[in-house]
Formats: sequence, C-alpha cells, structure tokens
Amino acid sequence: MKPKKRHVLLLLLLVCTGTTEAIEPISTSIAVGMAVALTGFLASYQNIHNYFHECCRPEWISLNRTGLQHDLETKLFGQHIASRIVLKAVSGFVANKNPKKPLVLSLHGWTGTGKNFVSQLIAKNIYKEGMDSSFVHFFTAPHHFPHSNQIETYKSQLQHWIKGNVTNCAHSMFIFDEMDKMHPGLIDSIKPFLDYYEKLDGVSYQKAIFIFLSNAGGESIIETALNFWRAGRDREEIELKDLETALSLSVFNNKKSGFWHSSLIDKNLVDFFVPLLPLEYRHVVQCVLAEMKAKNLKPKKSVAEQVAKDLVYSPKSERVFAVKGCKTISKLDYYI
Ligand SMILES: *[C@@H]1O[C@H](CO)[C@@H](O)[C@H](O)[C@H]1NC(C)=O
Ligand SMILES: *[C@@H]1O[C@H](CO)[C@@H](O)[C@H](O)[C@H]1NC(C)=O
Repeated sequence: MKPKKRHVLLLLLLVCTGTTEAIEPISTSIAVGMAVALTGFLASYQNIHNYFHECCRPEWISLNRTGLQHDLETKLFGQHIASRIVLKAVSGFVANKNPKKPLVLSLHGWTGTGKNFVSQLIAKNIYKEGMDSSFVHFFTAPHHFPHSNQIETYKSQLQHWIKGNVTNCAHSMFIFDEMDKMHPGLIDSIKPFLDYYEKLDGVSYQKAIFIFLSNAGGESIIETALNFWRAGRDREEIELKDLETALSLSVFNNKKSGFWHSSLIDKNLVDFFVPLLPLEYRHVVQCVLAEMKAKNLKPKKSVAEQVAKDLVYSPKSERVFAVKGCKTISKLDYYI
C-alpha cells in the first residue's frame, strides 16, 4: 500500500469506528474533514470496501429482504408459520424509520427444529458479516452465566454490554439461547432495554433486535402438530392461532418456564412469538440433502433417506416426529 493510501485508510477508520473521542477536538474535526474530502477521491477505487473494517453503517448493516425470504423458503424446512412471522416481523421493523421499541422475537420449539438456524438467517441477511459481525451478540445461559451465585455480577455485566454495544451501534442484535435456563433475575435486568423508552440514560435501544430462543412450549407445539397429523390434516393447515392457545397454556402458566415469560408478556415486551414445528421424516431428508450440498457433496437421496431412517421418532407407536429434528445429521459423515 502506498503511504498516501495508508493515511487515508487510517483517517477513515478513525471516523468509522468512533475512536475519535480519544483525540483532541481540533484534530478530530480536521480528520473528519479530510476523510470526507478523501472519501470521494477514494470512492473511485473498486476495492474501496477492502479498506474498511466493519462499521455501523448501511454498507455493512441493511436488510436483504429478498435474501431473507429466499433463505427462509429454501433452507428452513417444514416451518411455514415461523417463516412467515419472521419475514413479516423483521422487514416491518427495518422499514419503520421510528420504531417505538426494539424488535423482540421469542422463538419456541423442540431441539433441532431450527431456532438457532432462524436467528442465523436473520443475522446473515442484515449484517454483511452475519453471525461473525461485531454487532451481533450471542449469549447462552449455561456458557455465559453458569453460576447462580454470581448472578449480581452477571446482571451488571450484561447491562453494561448491552448499553456499551448499543451506544456504539444502534443496530445491534442480541441473541439469547436457552432462555429457559436463564436466571429470572438476569432476565429482569434486561427488561428495561426491551421497553417503550425513547431513551434510557441517554441511549436509545429502539433500533436494536433481541431474539430469545427456548424449548418452552415445545411439548405443546408437538401435541398440536400431532393432533393435526392424527386427524389426517395437512401440516400447512396449522395456523399460529392453533398454537397460541397451546403455547399460552403450557408456557405461561407453567411455573418453571413461565416465570420469565409472564413478566415479558405482562408488559407486552415480546413483539412476536415464533413457534417451530417438530420435523417429520421428509423434512429430515431435506435437511440432509441441504447439508450435502453445503459440504459440496453430490446430494444423494438414498443416503439422505438412510440417515433419516436411522433417527429416533416419537411417539413410539406412530413414529411421526424426529426427536432431535435435524440436529444429529452432522453424523452424515459416517454414511458417506
Ligand atoms: C440479497 O440476497 C440475494 C439472494 O440470496 C442475493 O442474490 C443478492 O445478491 C443479495 N443482495 C444484496 C444487496 O446483497
Ligand atoms: C459488547 O458485547 C460483548 C459481548 O458480546 C462484550 O464483550 C463487549 O465488552 C461489549 N462492548 C461494549 C462496548 O460494552
């Protein structure tokens, strides 16, 4: 790199990452001025993007609606309800120039139904760097907050992180996995961020996205799906309202998993409940074929069917739903 270019790069980076605070005001304004002037000059270079680190700007953060729709339709299997809600929720939120509160999604479903996968698809289609983006934060209770005797430390830590990151970038995303294993006190500590506040200690959280993942309600979703199956009805006939009743009865009145929920629901802090249905044999086959493609292997139906056949299904008598959904297809390697 020529020395001149390196200077420009440095200035742009300063402006971009917001580290300008550390510099005295006068040189900052000069730096900004020069950077602005030089940006036009630099823009003629095709590879201008190579000069940037990821920053909180539309070049790096903007929803690809077509991409999200495409991914939900072609990569997520057997989840017609979740697909629809997620697309509507995310695109509606992003299109709103003045959201009154952050977007809060709560994804429910049994193991392997695709909760994590859905959150990855959302991240991938908003952030250029996807899950690797420095604006996407992933927490899982057993890993990040394992000791209940340190709950007070975790609380202030988490609050600091959320505040710090949203201060840096309003368009930050926070994903909380295994929400049902999270200490209720910890959930209480993030509640203010989810609320309808214009500003909280000078920071606005209204452009942030929070995604909660949990197994809560998974059993009753399975029950509803099973009832449809037994009645010979098409899976696609299941509607959100069929599950909402089941969800609210089991999740929200259940002391164990309902604790966090009731407090979030009472205040209407969760904007969308997203149920994920249990997966059938045919969906597992689709998952395996997709996995082969992702691994640059030639998709082979016979192998996919073999993998799917070897999984455990429930209920025992009818063998309708894959107990671990698409989770265990990483065993694929043994079949090839
Ligand atoms: C949006 O996603 C589609 C489908 O994945 C892709 O073809 C397109 O290039 C993406 N657009 C942008 C601007 O990244
Ligand atoms: C942002 O969140 C991460 C955890 O994902 C944390 O390590 C980091 O310190 C936070 N940044 C700020 C500025 O608080």
